[in-house]
Amino acid sequence: MRVLLVTSSARGHALADALARSPEKPEIISICANNNPGIRSLASEMHVMNVMDFEKILEVVKQTTPDFAVIGPDDPIGAGLADVFEEIGLPSVAPKKSLARVESSKGFTRNLMEKHCINASPKFMVFERKQNSRGDPAEEERDMYTFIDQELSGNYVVKYDALKGGKGVKVSGEHLKNVDEGIQYARECLDECGRVVIEEKLIGVEFSLLSFVSGSTTVEMPAVQDHKRAYEGDTGPNTGGMGTYSDANHSLPFLTHTDLRQASEINRLVAAALIKECGEPYRGFLYGGFIAVKDGVKVIEYNARFGDPEALNILPLLSSDFVTICQGIISGELNDEMVRFDKKATVCKYIVPKSYPERKDEKGMEVKFPREIPGNARIYYGDLSEVDGKMFLGGSRTAGIVGIGKNLAEAEKVAQEICSKVEGPVRFRSDIGSGNLIQKRIDEMKRIRG
Ligand code: AMP
Ligand code: GLY
Repeated sequence: MRVLLVTSSARGHALADALARSPEKPEIISICANNNPGIRSLASEMHVMNVMDFEKILEVVKQTTPDFAVIGPDDPIGAGLADVFEEIGLPSVAPKKSLARVESSKGFTRNLMEKHCINASPKFMVFERKQNSRGDPAEEERDMYTFIDQELSGNYVVKYDALKGGKGVKVSGEHLKNVDEGIQYARECLDECGRVVIEEKLIGVEFSLLSFVSGSTTVEMPAVQDHKRAYEGDTGPNTGGMGTYSDANHSLPFLTHTDLRQASEINRLVAAALIKECGEPYRGFLYGGFIAVKDGVKVIEYNARFGDPEALNILPLLSSDFVTICQGIISGELNDEMVRFDKKATVCKYIVPKSYPERKDEKGMEVKFPREIPGNARIYYGDLSEVDGKMFLGGSRTAGIVGIGKNLAEAEKVAQEICSKVEGPVRFRSDIGSGNLIQKRIDEMKRIRG
C-alpha cells in the first residue's frame, strides 16, 4: 500500500508516524515544503516542493500511483487539492474545496450554523461589499457601528473572511482599542476579500475537539487545550500554538461531561449540515475550536484539518490502525470500533527560536536534541533542516516535544525534562501543562459559571 502525504511541519511528522505504525506498513510518499527530518526518516520517497504547486504534485502522483492521499495544511485543502485528486481518481482524507469553506470562510460557517439551527454561535453579522455597485461606504460603516456599539456593547471580534495564516482575527480590548479601530480593520477586510464577520466577544475558556468525519459519521478524538500566546502566563503576541495538553479521561479538567457531549454533538450537526449545504460528504478531520462559556459551549471557529499542535497530543495515543481509519473515512465505513485511544494524558511543549514569533533572528543556527528519548516521549520535528547530521533552525516553530503519562503531572514532567535538555538559541513555555496553569483554567471557569 502507498499513501501520499502532503504536509510539512511537526503535524506532518505526527501524521507520518501514525501511518508508519500501521500494521499495513504503507509506503509513505511525502510531498513536503521543507526537508523535514522526521518525515524523511519515515517516508520511502520525499519530494521537497511547494505544496501549492498542484501541477508538480500531480506529476508525483502519476509516477507513484498512491492508494490514497492525506493532506495536512489549510492552504492546499482550501484551494481544492482534494478536488484535483478526485479528478484523477485519487481519494483523499481531506475535504473538497466547497466543504473546506468551513475553515476558509468564517462567514460561510456562521451562516451554515444559523441556517441549520445549530445554536452555538455568538451574535454575529456578515457584511458584504456589494458587487457591481458602488454601495454607500458611509451607510455600510453606520451599520457596523450600530451593531458593535448597540448590539454588542463594544465587546466584539472582527474576522477576515478568508484564510490568513491564523492572523485574520482581531479582538476588542486586545488588538482593537476602540470602535473606530474595529471599523477601520473591518473596512480593510472588505477591501481585501469583500466580506467581513463581526461577532460578539465571548468570555470563557477555549478548547479543541476534533472528529474523524465520513459524511454523517463523526468519531471524536480526545479534547485538547492549546496555548496561543508566546510567553509564560499567557502573555505576548499570538503564535501558531506554543503547546497543548490532553487528559487521561479524554476530557479536560475545566470541562463538564455535558460540555464535552455538546461539543461532540455540534461537530456531528456541522458535518450533517455540510452534506446538505454542499451536496456531498465531508471526508477528513474536522477541528472544532470551542469556548466553554457561562451557559454551555460555543463555537469560535472550524478548521478543515488536523490541528497543530493538537495532532501531536492526539496521534501518539491512537492505539488502533490509522490506515484503517483513513480507509473508513474514504469508503464511508468509518465507525467507533475503528478508533481507540490510550487512556493517558499528554503534554506538548513547542521548542521555538528565541525571537519567534516577532523575528527570525536565529534562522540557520544550530539546535541539538537529546539523543536518548524515553518510550513515553516523542519529538516531532517542525521548521528545521538537517545537513550532515546537524539540525538548523528555520524561523518558525522548531519541534513539538510530547510527554505521555498516566496523569497530566507525569506527562508534563517528561516533556519538561526533554525540553530543558535541548541546546541552542531556543525557548519553550515551562508553564504549559503545569498544575498552576491548569488550576488557573479551572478557577477561571468556576468564576465564569458562578
Ligand atoms: P480564530 O482564528 O477564529 O480561531 O480566532 C483566533 C482567536 O481569536 C481565537 O483562538 C480566540 O482566542 C479569539 N476569538 C475568535 N473569535 C472569538 C470570539 N467570538 N470571542 C472571543 N474570542 C474570539
Ligand atoms: N492549534 C491551532 C491550529 O491548528 O490552528
